[in-house]
Formats: sequence, structure tokens, C-alpha cells
Amino acid sequence: MNQNNFILLEHPLIKRDMTILRDRQTAPEEFRMVLNRISRILAVEISKNFNVQEINVDTPLEKTKGYLLADQIVLAPVLRAGLGMLNGFLEVIPEAKVGHIGLKRDEETLNPIYYYYKAPVDLDKGITIVLDPMLATGGSAAEALNYLKENGAKNIALACLVAAPEGVKKVSACHSDVKIFCAALDRQLNSKGYILPGLGDAGDRIFGT
Ligand code: PRP
Ligand code: URA
Repeated sequence: MNQNNFILLEHPLIKRDMTILRDRQTAPEEFRMVLNRISRILAVEISKNFNVQEINVDTPLEKTKGYLLADQIVLAPVLRAGLGMLNGFLEVIPEAKVGHIGLKRDEETLNPIYYYYKAPVDLDKGITIVLDPMLATGGSAAEALNYLKENGAKNIALACLVAAPEGVKKVSACHSDVKIFCAALDRQLNSKGYILPGLGDAGDRIFGT
């Protein structure tokens, strides 16, 4: 994959957790726990180049320099499966605001159907990170990015677990300004739009449906 907005996050802990998530024997309780853990690691990796603002801090012994995040961060989970990544990101970036985007793939056409949007009004002020574990055809991610941009977001990243090449191409073509961070790049989509080898339906695996 030579799209220069695509970043494959490589880390032994990510590889280990992806294996647990892919395993069909992993039940929802463990799936949620591991998804939360891997999301924390993704959050740390994705935030590596965030700007900081210098402040003064008093230690018990003397004054020294300290830092705050310089930019407002908004986390935007795509319902439902993006919710599985939210707490892990919030544990690492607790000052983030949260915007929700409701999209559901039509099982026949594979096109995303919109049903909900609620996000902070000042998205233009900082960085927005879209959370969705699965980037399959890319239709849902592209649509989520459209909504966020229509509502003012300018500096946006997409965080996912598993991407298909088809989805990376689609998002790169429609939103070349958006960096795509991903824990695994898989082979292809099947005839029903599922990622192979993938991990199945992420929403079903998280919520036991
Ligand atoms: C899944 C997933 C993505 C989308 C990816 O959600 O969480 O949002 O499919 O597929 P795409 O790249 O082809 O658009 P789904 O629509 O199944 O909704 P759910 O999370 O509510 O189950
Ligand atoms: N959505 C999922 O949850 N899994 C896939 O493999 C594709 C879309």
C-alpha cells in the first residue's frame, strides 16, 4: 500500500491483541476488554506528534516546566462498533470531547445509511479522530468524514483496526487530507463486503448480537 496518508501501526502488543480479536473463539467479554486495550495503544501511537503547550508546574520541591495538549481533541466514534474503541482512547486522552456519528451499512447495496450526528460545534478548533474498527468498502468512513467536514472539522485522522485495500483506496481518493491509522491491512473483501481474513462483524462481536 503506497498511499502516503496510510499509516500501518506496527507494535508487538498490537500484533498480539489483533490475534485475540481475530480468533472466532474470543467471546464478547474478552473481545471488549482486548479492543479497549489495543485502542489505548493506538491512541498513544496516533497522538505521538500532537502539539503541546508549555506551562509552569510546582513540584513538591521546586518550579519546573510542564505541558498541556495544545489542541482540542474530538473523538468521533462511528456507531455502533466505534464505541468499542472510545473508552481506550478516553483513558489516554481524557480531556477529549466526543462526537457520535450513526451509520449503518445496507446489507444489499453496502452503502452507509445515516441515522445520527451529534458533535461539538467547534470542530474547526482542533483535531478530530474518527474511531471505527473496520474499514471495508470505505463507504462508512468516507461518509463520516463528509459529515465532520460539513460541520467544520479541518484536521482529521481516521483510527481503525482492520483495513481492506479497497477501503484505504476509497478514503484516500475522497479525503486525501485525512491520515488513516490502522492496526492491520488485510487481503481483500468477500462478495458480501466482509474483510478477509478480518475478524467478522465488529459490532456483533462487541455487543454479542
Ligand atoms: C461496520 C463497521 C463500519 C462499516 C465498515 O458497521 O463498524 O462502520 O461496517 O464497512 P464499510 O467500510 O464497507 O462502510 P455496520 O454498518 O455493520 O454497523 P454496526 O457497527 O452498527 O454493526
Ligand atoms: N464491517 C464489519 O464489521 N466487518 C467487516 O468485515 C466489514 C464491515
